[in-house]
Amino acid sequence: MIADTQEWARLAAHADEVAGVHLRELFASDPARGEELTVGAGDLHLDYSKNRVTRQTLRLLTALAERAGVAPRREAMFRGEAINVTERRAVLHTALRAPSGERVEVDGVDVVPAVHEVLDRMHDLASRVRAGEWTGATGRRIRNVVNIGIGGSDLGPAMATRALGGDADPALTLRFVSNIDGDDLGDALVGLDPAETLFVVCSKTFTTLETLTNARSAREWLVAGLGDEGAVRHHFIAVSTNAEQVAAFGIDTANMLGFWDWVGGRYSVDSAIGLTLAIAVGPDAFREMLRGFRVMDEHFRGAPLDRNMPVILALIGVWNANFLGADTYAVLPYSQRLGRLPAYLQQLDMESNGKSVDLEGRPVGVPTGPIVWGEPGTNGQHAFMQLIHQGTRLVPSDLIGVCRPGREMGDHHDLLMANLLAQAEALAFGRTAEEVAAEGVAPELVPHRTFPGDRPTNVILLDELTPSSLGQLIALYEHKVFTQGVIWGINSFDQWGVELGKVLAKRIAPELIAGEAPAGGHDGSTDALIRRYRAARGRSA
Ligand code: F6P
Repeated sequence: MIADTQEWARLAAHADEVAGVHLRELFASDPARGEELTVGAGDLHLDYSKNRVTRQTLRLLTALAERAGVAPRREAMFRGEAINVTERRAVLHTALRAPSGERVEVDGVDVVPAVHEVLDRMHDLASRVRAGEWTGATGRRIRNVVNIGIGGSDLGPAMATRALGGDADPALTLRFVSNIDGDDLGDALVGLDPAETLFVVCSKTFTTLETLTNARSAREWLVAGLGDEGAVRHHFIAVSTNAEQVAAFGIDTANMLGFWDWVGGRYSVDSAIGLTLAIAVGPDAFREMLRGFRVMDEHFRGAPLDRNMPVILALIGVWNANFLGADTYAVLPYSQRLGRLPAYLQQLDMESNGKSVDLEGRPVGVPTGPIVWGEPGTNGQHAFMQLIHQGTRLVPSDLIGVCRPGREMGDHHDLLMANLLAQAEALAFGRTAEEVAAEGVAPELVPHRTFPGDRPTNVILLDELTPSSLGQLIALYEHKVFTQGVIWGINSFDQWGVELGKVLAKRIAPELIAGEAPAGGHDGSTDALIRRYRAARGRSA
């Protein structure tokens, strides 16, 4: 186990040595760190100097990555070995952005031609919808696209569509439906004409309760609106790995785009799961995003560990979580367009690394994936940043900014970026009691107005928010999460922890329904809550 290695012990001893050394001192004794503790990759720049690390910390962390086998494990992933051991699958989202002509084999079969075949079909389909050539059952052009999916089949396309401004085209209305709460689909359908509406049902497994329930209700809405069961094939596209279930649901498999079990749901935005995104932003922009992913893949695969952006980000995260005791970290995009990035990264990180046993099934022994959350700046400054500045908990954060705005509006962008830089500065350096007192603050208020500082941040700057830079940013976090999983010795690519709730919900659902008697036999609390719900719905016990 990693915690039993010399490298881990050295880091623990080093953490004791540097404990109490404030970021103010680190900058005073090493002024070049602001320039030098930075790394570039593609269009991204990472400044990690405002972390509680010395150059020695970074050397020790790199040694830990070497000891954990990050480099060979990374190769095993890129080569298509079955590194998802509990599901006996390869992990090859990187093959989704491999250029045609490159060979990536799974069980001796080159998968790249199939990837490009699907990409070409996506390209064609998206172009036809955008050009008005895909018509509905009545011959009218499609003006509304409703994406139905959940988790990785929703968050990626929804986040990226917002990021790239795909929802700003008045000719096309785009909506994303994920929740089984009928208000989600109900609200999404308000104002839509079924004759002009295309549903893209995204589900890797095509067995997900939420998605199938929403898709069924969407089909009922469509058939009721058009009065024709045969309309379904003009208005439904499926994206899935499961052709059998797609056919069983009643979607013509000619209207299906496939992908493969070696693409994890939370790693699937660059597969056919991105169809709604491709419709929204255009297939060329989608391909540009894939090229961006590829830029980061090549950097991750080729750069030495101590100059490797995803590896550095991962190691800083391990340092914060395992040696400084931070249980959580905040993702703060200073970009409204990146507003859904925290939710996207929440799934990517927490579903991947929220594990407590290692690859052999033994307790992992150290804290693993952190609690990830966040909101765009500057909104967060007027909500939760108080706690990060002056609270008792350590909350490291990633502040993400875009240098050149998509839209110039007066001085908005400079003010936005000034706030990003100011937050990082304030978090790191704070304001001492002496400085506060010197400003003439009343003595009894000095403790309240003192900022301890020493709060770690990473600042990530994108030159511009483009399809390519977005691809680079997503891949950066994918590889960061992978690297942390390797260090902790866990499987970042399964998600057994979501299963129990699904099984129990299936058991409870009939107990809530009118005409059925509750079976009981749960714990006292669950049985009582079932009774209360039934009573509120006027259903007899
Ligand atoms: O329940 C978790 C999960 O399996 C995620 O990993 C996945 O992204 C989501 O559900 C949706 O799954 P599917 O695409 O198979 O509907």
